[in-house]
Amino acid sequence: MDSVPKFKLNTGAQMPAIGMGCWAGFSEEEAEGAVSWFLTALKVGYRHFDTAWMYGTEKYLGEAIRQSGIPREELWINTKLAWHHPGLKTVEESLAESLRNLGTDYVDSYLLHWPQVVDWPYGVGALDMLRKAAKLFQEGKEPIAVRDSPTFNETWTGMEAVYRKGKARNIGVSNFSVKTLEKLLETAKVVPAIDQVELHPYLVQEDLRTYCDAKGIRLVAYTATGYNAVLTNPLIVELAEKYKASPAQVVLAWHLARGVIVVPKSADPQRQRANLNLPSLEPGDVQRISALDRNERYTKAGPTGKANGWTHEQLGW
Ligand SMILES: NC(=O)c1ccc[n+]([C@@H]2O[C@H](COP(=O)([O-])OP(=O)(O)OC[C@H]3O[C@@H](n4cnc5c(N)ncnc54)[C@H](OP(=O)(O)O)[C@@H]3O)[C@@H](O)[C@H]2O)c1
Repeated sequence: MDSVPKFKLNTGAQMPAIGMGCWAGFSEEEAEGAVSWFLTALKVGYRHFDTAWMYGTEKYLGEAIRQSGIPREELWINTKLAWHHPGLKTVEESLAESLRNLGTDYVDSYLLHWPQVVDWPYGVGALDMLRKAAKLFQEGKEPIAVRDSPTFNETWTGMEAVYRKGKARNIGVSNFSVKTLEKLLETAKVVPAIDQVELHPYLVQEDLRTYCDAKGIRLVAYTATGYNAVLTNPLIVELAEKYKASPAQVVLAWHLARGVIVVPKSADPQRQRANLNLPSLEPGDVQRISALDRNERYTKAGPTGKANGWTHEQLGW
């Protein structure tokens, strides 16, 4: 691959089809430590970065971009509206905070992180909240309480407002299914440009891809590698030998062949570089990989069977 391909969104924008995932871990040290691997990512050629208010890495991404000296207009920055903000702040206030963190006056894309709104005490930081939730999860307690309002339809009007003001050049959603997208589209005036979801050869989501294709919504895959479970699958290993590539490169190439954008995270410069240089797969091999589907998610439901406070049925999973 000579240069990173770009995929067109329904706004006409051209989004780099490979981005760097910016979740760094639960501690502030890990978030801060990401500056060094964000810098190597910029150095090896990444121009698309996928962060979120919830990751606590926006300010460190901003810091790495400043240190790199790369002009803002060469970059695609995606961030996400925290899942509690719709209840505590307006979308505009929330985006303003993210922009301050990032040190920029617009984002290329802004996503509604989850369809549900989480009950969250005002002023509690992202990583503090996530650590607390993880502890409750381990203790077998439901870690997340949700609110009934505002609904994601109501929050979307705020997303549309920041889009119209140019603060977010594209708007989209994350963790939306066919069910929740259908509900959103009942009232949306702007069709989401993006839906970022868990997607890999064990969770192919062909129905969601077909639906999004028909509506002009571009899918972005997270957990795109499928971790070691997928990377050690015998077919993936066989194809890695055939294409003289690594298993991760084969899996990432499969996403691109399906028209799906990927945001793999790697803190290792060699793997960062490898993930940008993907083989071109024969259509028959794309189909063979798709046939590995097991409808298996790594975004685990909590101890009460809910994922971040909603049942799989509510999420449409
Ligand atoms: N919207 C959402 O709700 C949501 C949820 C989860 C994640 N995300 C986004 O998606 C990004 C990535 O998600 P993820 O971390 O779950 O999945 P991932 O990118 O598929 O997996 C990351 C893991 O794969 C390893 N890896 C990366 N490239 C590799 C390669 N070429 N060969 C072997 N191992 C490789 C990394 O290790 P090294 O760092 O050591 O290379 C890391 O342990 C996140 O950073 C975040 O931006 C979004």
